[in-house]
Amino acid sequence: MKNTITIFLLLLSSLGSYGQTTATLTVPAKAEVTISRHIYGHFAEHLGRCIYGGFYVGENNTKIPHTAGVRNDVVAALKKLKIPNLRWPGGCFADTYHWKDGIGPKDQRPSIVNNWWGGVTENNSFGTHDFLNMCELLGTEPYLAGNVGSGLVQELADWVQYVNFAGVSPMSDLRRKNGRDKPWKVKYWGIGNEAWGCGGNMTADYYANEYRKYATFVSDWGNTGNLFRIASGASSSDYTWTETLMKIIPKNLIEGIALHHYSVINWEKKGPAVGFSEQQYFSTMKQALFMEELIQKHSAIMDKYDPEKKIALVVDEWGGWYEVEPGTNPGFLYQQNTMRDAMIAGSTLNIFNNHADRVRMANLAQAINVLQAVILTDEEKMLLTPTYHVMEMYNVHQDATFLPLTVKSTNYTLGTEKLTAVNGSASRDKNGITHISLVNIDPKNKQEISIAIDGANYKSVTGRILASKALQDHNTFEKPNLITPTTFKGAKLKGNSLKVELPPFSVVVLEMK
Ligand code: AHR
Repeated sequence: MKNTITIFLLLLSSLGSYGQTTATLTVPAKAEVTISRHIYGHFAEHLGRCIYGGFYVGENNTKIPHTAGVRNDVVAALKKLKIPNLRWPGGCFADTYHWKDGIGPKDQRPSIVNNWWGGVTENNSFGTHDFLNMCELLGTEPYLAGNVGSGLVQELADWVQYVNFAGVSPMSDLRRKNGRDKPWKVKYWGIGNEAWGCGGNMTADYYANEYRKYATFVSDWGNTGNLFRIASGASSSDYTWTETLMKIIPKNLIEGIALHHYSVINWEKKGPAVGFSEQQYFSTMKQALFMEELIQKHSAIMDKYDPEKKIALVVDEWGGWYEVEPGTNPGFLYQQNTMRDAMIAGSTLNIFNNHADRVRMANLAQAINVLQAVILTDEEKMLLTPTYHVMEMYNVHQDATFLPLTVKSTNYTLGTEKLTAVNGSASRDKNGITHISLVNIDPKNKQEISIAIDGANYKSVTGRILASKALQDHNTFEKPNLITPTTFKGAKLKGNSLKVELPPFSVVVLEMK
């Protein structure tokens, strides 16, 4: 009898535990919202090894293959992601940056101190031409963050003229003298960064009035007719900031309003990037999923002043933030990237897709070697992180038509706390192919998902999955391909019913025709 019970218990545990989740995919006859590709944007600050050693190794480097100093391996990897835009030069650095320091002959550029990030010497060898030419190489749109904190209105107006003006003018002549005839036509302009903090510790009222002044002169006087000005937005749940800006800034002066939110457990005790506990994982995911509430509440405020949704909500800094890797410069914010980061990326991108009517741009912080990076480098070595793979799997949603997917998820519980285990989003691309992205954040339980399809008859389903043995797994320079997407076989289509079995802590993207 004892043996029978033991066998029964063993059998039961080998089956693993299941969560049951239901969902409905609605395919309306006339779907109207497009998921902007700009939701999948990136961020490159003069911080640690993001620019120097990450993107740029210098024109004279003989060890690492490059084009005008920009790493060829990085360009190839980012092109596969189809990165739509790249924000530069900060972050906090932007409000200390004087763009004229970074133009002209490199041996004549001044060296400055990067006060925010480690107090290191910044020799300005990577400046405006280097960045904008690199964007052309990457096939991505530049997003320049202007200096409001310590700059002048004239300085920012000059930068616009320098990069955008085709005719004869002091700044376009200077550009030509520095070797570039054709303007780059930069559309996206940030008017300061974190004005409530490192960008000048301003009050919302004061910044809103400063913004009006700067935005007036951040104009290309009809040259492209296409400038997109983004106001420095709220920190997480500072709803008063958004409300004040919406109230004070006239609609003809603003195209986007930013929001920054990091998935950080506690600013004093961030916890390790790799050796984290389940409790730390849970707390990080709670912060990541909080993005849903943030977007709902900031959008509701924007709706009051802008019911036509003309102004975009631009989440131009998001991602996981942990303690730096042991032995590295604390001012460089270098951290590893595990399956936890894949859970943050997949869930956050699902939230953005589901709010594509208002969230029309976002930037993961940051692209290389800083915070939740998609790429890590070590001299000539380079690796792609789990976050990179999620970004690559999800790029099918870029500029696709949004399809509503409502998920009724079971919970992931830890002690007395709970989070929704499954989240998802869906879209139809220009070839008529539907993609559903699903994330199961529960680290212990698989999920059986029943999706009812309303409004379409699909014939086939295929998919890709990102999963691993342990939540703390990550790619290293020794084992760079430990975590990569593989073919997913856990989806079955029967008429209008789709059954999906998601392993614990996995990201899946399905393709349906
Ligand atoms: O991404 C790192 C820093 O975080 C940025 O420079 C700043 O804007 C934010 O506080």
